[in-house]
Amino acid sequence: MSKIIYYIGLIVCLAKLRTILDFVWFYFLRPTNRWEKYLQGPSPYAVVTGATDGIGKATAQELYDKGFNLILHGRNENKLKGVIEEIQSAKSKRTGKVQDVKYFLEDASKVGIDFEGIARRFEGLNVTILVNNVGMYTIGLERFDEWTEEVHMEYVRANSLFSTFLTRAFLPSLRATARARPVLVVFIGSFGDETAMPRITLYSAAKHFNRRVALGLHADERFDIPDDKAISFMYVHVGQVNSQMDREPPNFVRASSEHFAEKLVGTFGCGRQIVIPYIGHYVVKLVYTTIPEFLATKMLRDSAHEQVERAIKESKLRS
Ligand SMILES: NC(=O)c1ccc[n+]([C@@H]2O[C@H](COP(=O)([O-])OP(=O)(O)OC[C@H]3O[C@@H](n4cnc5c(N)ncnc54)[C@H](OP(=O)(O)O)[C@@H]3O)[C@@H](O)[C@H]2O)c1
Ligand SMILES: *[C@@H]1O[C@H](CO)[C@@H](O)[C@H](O)[C@H]1NC(C)=O
Repeated sequence: MSKIIYYIGLIVCLAKLRTILDFVWFYFLRPTNRWEKYLQGPSPYAVVTGATDGIGKATAQELYDKGFNLILHGRNENKLKGVIEEIQSAKSKRTGKVQDVKYFLEDASKVGIDFEGIARRFEGLNVTILVNNVGMYTIGLERFDEWTEEVHMEYVRANSLFSTFLTRAFLPSLRATARARPVLVVFIGSFGDETAMPRITLYSAAKHFNRRVALGLHADERFDIPDDKAISFMYVHVGQVNSQMDREPPNFVRASSEHFAEKLVGTFGCGRQIVIPYIGHYVVKLVYTTIPEFLATKMLRDSAHEQVERAIKESKLRS
């Protein structure tokens, strides 16, 4: 009997030890320059969607500084041109050159987007990184049935379907590039895909959809292509980040967009399919999964209440 207890104890301890070692490895020891492999070969391009603000803009800047040419997406031409001007006002820190920046415009929430037409416009360029970052988030007093079906669909399109079908349209050329050099497709997700925060049901569901698409495609490409010649896919867990979506000031649990983008790019090429780039987000997740469920539920509800109140205040300020 005591032997059985001993072995159970040993297994539990080893499992915990593995988690701790993995934590130390991932946040303190792991090489964070694996993104360099996506720079191999002539003129590598990185695509970033939702690049006019927050995480997308900071990620675009980070990739530019690291030597990538860019294809940026936005919906507001003036704002996007301003961002491109800002990025190109300095030389890339790595290459010492002004890198090329191209762009395309599209309201991601709309129906009838010509995804293949977009991909065709950039055909022949060696895209080695695609960051599906665009996302739309609103929290308010409205219940699920108080939003129209059409508004729900706009959120589903902007948060999931746009990323899914943009990726689909780029797949043939990404696959061709991946035969010669590593190619990565990233989906920016959210902890919302695992938690049940009130008032954002379809946002959470859409993020979960992206996670399944990322993991599914990673396996799908490897069905008939060897691992080293196949496109890699990665889903990114994001906690709070200071951006247009969350204007509260940065602190340990809420990263600035710039800091988050630096950590994010540091995970590119790490070989994992799901990552939590920022350590503060890891700690938040640890707390949520360790405390009793009723407490976690209460914290989510309180957080939703706070966010709703803030959103109402902000909309009053604006009007
Ligand atoms: N911030 C957070 O706390 C947080 C947490 C978890 C996950 N995330 C995820 O991180 C990603 C980036 O969010 P963020 O925090 O950087 O938000 P943000 O500051 O609001 O930036 C969102 C970007 O997406 C663009 N966009 C929004 N709706 C669009 C539409 N319908 N069509 C085309 N472009 C559209 C915005 O363009 P405009 O400049 O024209 O508005 C902007 O470039 C999202 O996928 C979000 O879900 C963020
Ligand atoms: C893309 O890369 C291939 C080799 O990997 C190269 O032959 C080709 O010229 C590159 N295309 C462009 C437009 O740089």
